[in-house]
Amino acid sequence: MVSTRFLLFTLSTTTASVAIPLAARQYDDYQPTCWDKILDLQWTISGLSYSASYTTVSPEANTTSWDYVGFTLSNSAVGYMADCVAGSVVGFNGTEEYSCTLGEGAPEGAGVKFKFAKEQGKVEVEEVILCSEGEGHSATFVAKGETGVSLGQCTDETQENEEWKEGEVYKNREVKCAGGEDVSLWPSQFLVKE
Ligand SMILES: *[C@@H]1O[C@H](CO)[C@@H](O)[C@H](O)[C@H]1NC(C)=O
Ligand SMILES: *[C@@H]1O[C@H](CO)[C@@H](O)[C@H](O)[C@H]1NC(C)=O
Repeated sequence: MVSTRFLLFTLSTTTASVAIPLAARQYDDYQPTCWDKILDLQWTISGLSYSASYTTVSPEANTTSWDYVGFTLSNSAVGYMADCVAGSVVGFNGTEEYSCTLGEGAPEGAGVKFKFAKEQGKVEVEEVILCSEGEGHSATFVAKGETGVSLGQCTDETQENEEWKEGEVYKNREVKCAGGEDVSLWPSQFLVKE
């Protein structure tokens, strides 16, 4: 019994040690093209944070607000990330488009834009990706997608200045959200420009 088991073990080990390098070699030979990678594109939104501050300078004054949203966007088809940050005095209702800052290695002409709808908890992404693999194989892709996002845990604090005097801030409200989970999304639309 014992020797049979030993033999089986040896055989399977030998088989594996032959099979793995072969499989690895085949895999190494296969270089996914830029087109392959783009058609498999997956984005990930991470580190989403949102905050808003509402300031009222006097009991008669209107409240002014400042909203901020930020996240990092990674893309499985390219080696660089996008840092997406925006501020707004009218809030985020999904209409306005903002540009992200691309990380190191991004080619000229590449770009990421986003829209954010706070009430709906929705992020829309549009990315321009360049594929240059020699003559006849170069193209510019525009990929678009959207996803629901959760803002995570939020705190909401209001400070009111009971003994307000001219020149002081009367009321200040701060909303801060962080810790929303990472979200992956896939393009719902592709455009190819030659
Ligand atoms: C508050 O806002 C309203 C509407 O925008 C404006 O008509 C009014 O003059 C503002 N009041 C002050 C004190 O700025
Ligand atoms: C969103 O806000 C902008 C600027 O305040 C406004 O022009 C636009 O009509 C709003 N859109 C929606 C769908 O509420």
